[in-house]
Order: sequence, then C-alpha cells, then structure tokens
Amino acid sequence: MADHDNSEKPHACPSCPSPEPAPAPSRRSFLMSMGASGLAVTGGGLIPRGQAQAAAPVAAAAAETAAPTASTPLAPGEQTVNFVVNGAARSVNVPPNAVLLDVMREKLGLTGTKKGCDHGQCGACTLHVNGTAVNSCLSLAVMHEGDEITTIEGLAQDGTLHPVQEAFWAHDAYQCGYCTSGQMMSAVAILKDARIGRDNASVREAMSGNICRCGAYKNILAAVQSARTNMPKVS
Ligand code: FES
Ligand code: FES
Repeated sequence: MADHDNSEKPHACPSCPSPEPAPAPSRRSFLMSMGASGLAVTGGGLIPRGQAQAAAPVAAAAAETAAPTASTPLAPGEQTVNFVVNGAARSVNVPPNAVLLDVMREKLGLTGTKKGCDHGQCGACTLHVNGTAVNSCLSLAVMHEGDEITTIEGLAQDGTLHPVQEAFWAHDAYQCGYCTSGQMMSAVAILKDARIGRDNASVREAMSGNICRCGAYKNILAAVQSARTNMPKVS
C-alpha cells in the first residue's frame, strides 16, 4: 500500500532533467573491486558500501602509487624490508613485530587481503609467498626480505580476470565476499599443486583451511573444479 511504499518518488520538477538511474554493480565488477569493497567492510564504515564500487579506481591508483617507504626515515626500532609485491619492487620500513597482513593492507594499501580471525584459523588473509599459499596474519613482514608476494590484486592481468576469479563469478561462489579473496588465493595454489588430487574430496580437504561464514562451500567447490581446465599452464 502507498503508506508502506518507501521507494524513491520520481523527480517531478518540469524544469529539471530526469536523473540518470545509477547502473547496478555487476558480480564481475565486484570481483574487480574486491580491494576497495574491503575498505567498506573492514574500515569501520569509513567508506559506505554504496561508494565502494566508485572508490575502486581510487584504491587501485593508491595501491599502484603507494610509494616504497625506503625514503621515509626509519623510526627507532624499524628496519627496511624489500620484496616484490604483485610484480613491483616494494620497500617498507616496519617494526620487527609487524605482521605481513597488516603491512600489505596498511602500508601498501592492498586491502583485498582480509583480516578475519587474526589467529591462522579462517584463511581470509591467504596470499602467496613465492607461489605458496600462506596465512599472512601469522607471518612477520621482516621474514620476507627478497620474497615474491602475490595478493588478490595481482591475480587479474591487464584487466582480465584470472580463471579462478572467472569461475567464482560464473558459479556464484560468494555471498558477502569477505572470505572470497582468501578462498581464491588458496584455490589458485591448490590447482597448481600436482600433489593434490582432482576429486571433490581432495579439493574440499585442501580448501578446509578457508572458512566461509556464508556457507557458500558447494559453489566454491564447483568454481574450483571448473577453473581447473582453464588454469595457465605451468612449465
Ligand atoms: S585472518 Fe589469518 S587465518 Fe584468519
Ligand atoms: S562469502 Fe561470506 S564469508 Fe564466505
């Protein structure tokens, strides 16, 4: 009934042009903007959810230009760590107890990697160190001098989603999306690991360190299995 209708009324002023309807964000653009939406989810509401999509290019640019902090004077007790992150050389000054997850998110602006439990139990913080999936909440940044690190922001290449990202999109393998970057990073590592069987039980077991509170496991499994045939060939 009308008195329960909270939808926006049409713009009725004859002298004003009709407002353009905002385009609905697609599942694909959600995957592409995972890092920016993370700000909305984990940043204590600093960015309203509705603005997260618009913030994606800003976040991407910030991450791109997040200058290595080697030129920043070392604070007492800090040391410089040099590593390669998503193909780019990075240099950051950190205290010895700085956790890799926090350095990625707070020093380099790579907020696609999520903090869930902060205790190595949920897998939301999964990224790759020299090709191996790692819980970054359990790893000190100073241990990674010279390492090659890949985060979710480094999976897509030249605007093209990684096959695992494509498969998650095609199979609706997420709901809130909070666990998704960790799930995808684990999936990529698992699909490259010849020691892990191709059957569903083996994939479930290998992915068991990644918790999904939304319970999207069925679709996640389907996505991982479907991405298998499209994975880049490893020499
Ligand atoms: S945040 Fe690292 S495993 Fe949960
Ligand atoms: S999609 Fe919500 S926690 Fe996994």
